[in-house]
Amino acid sequence: MAIDILMSNEKVSPARAVAAASAISCAKLSKSFGGLHALRDVTFQIAPGEILGILGPNGAGKTTFINVLSGMLHADSGTVHIYDDDVSAMSMAHRARYGLFRTFQNSRSSEELTGYELLRLASLTPNKTKSSKTYTPDELLEIFGLKRFAGIILSDLPYGIQKMMNLAAVALCRPKVLLLDEPFQGVAEAEIERLSKVIRHFASEGVAVGLVEHNVRSVMRLCNRVIVLDAGAMIFEGRGEDAVRDPVVQTAYLGQRFAGELNG
Ligand SMILES: Nc1ncnc2c1ncn2[C@@H]1O[C@H](COP(=O)(O)OP(=O)(O)OP(=O)(O)O)[C@@H](O)[C@H]1O
Ligand SMILES: [Mg+2]
Repeated sequence: MAIDILMSNEKVSPARAVAAASAISCAKLSKSFGGLHALRDVTFQIAPGEILGILGPNGAGKTTFINVLSGMLHADSGTVHIYDDDVSAMSMAHRARYGLFRTFQNSRSSEELTGYELLRLASLTPNKTKSSKTYTPDELLEIFGLKRFAGIILSDLPYGIQKMMNLAAVALCRPKVLLLDEPFQGVAEAEIERLSKVIRHFASEGVAVGLVEHNVRSVMRLCNRVIVLDAGAMIFEGRGEDAVRDPVVQTAYLGQRFAGELNG
């Protein structure tokens, strides 16, 4: 689809060409809550198969960014494209049909469902884009190493396992773009390793991943490229190792755990 657009004789505007070459792209995205500018003119793209790290201190606007990209909140201005489709005016459910899925920062389960039942439900999700690989719930449980937990009610599972089960359910929806809001928070070290492998697995199949995380070490391991938000604005885009040496980024994080995590 992207290639069709880039190779056709039809004149393509530069903004549309960038959108088409990316799995997800946004241009000049802004969102305010009253007088608070939570997101200011953010422009970025994620390529198919790329894992992009999204960093920033507490309150920087990372969750707002995911909320606006996924359609949970509508932006005040700016555009969002999934491949060459403009989804800016679409609801979250409608964007999901284009292959855009997200997970939540605090996703403790309250449903009286077992993991297996959750995955069966997720496998029924309609999706306009059928090109990404389709898995059965059993295959996904195997990939995530969750088989032994599948028959247990979600709310009875440890928090880290609940988060992995939710991510497995999202993976069943054949995502083309996955936006993950702090997937490692509250997850044990061994499970972080397993989760990282799963994220790499989906990226290797062409899924574009946006990874919001405070666990900088894991971001460095998984991502070639990161962006850094501060007070709603993008203050850095580039390689993770350059981000941590950047004086503007260091100032934004001053007093936070960032430097300690990297040096510790
Ligand atoms: N629904 C809302 N109504 C009013 N203000 C909000 C709302 N959602 C977020 N904010 C404010 O917008 C700013 C950005 O919040 P956001 O949750 O996006 O930050 P974050 O980078 O995800 O932070 P954290 O690392 O703590 O998760 C904060 O000042 C927050 O208080
Ligand atoms: Mg957040």
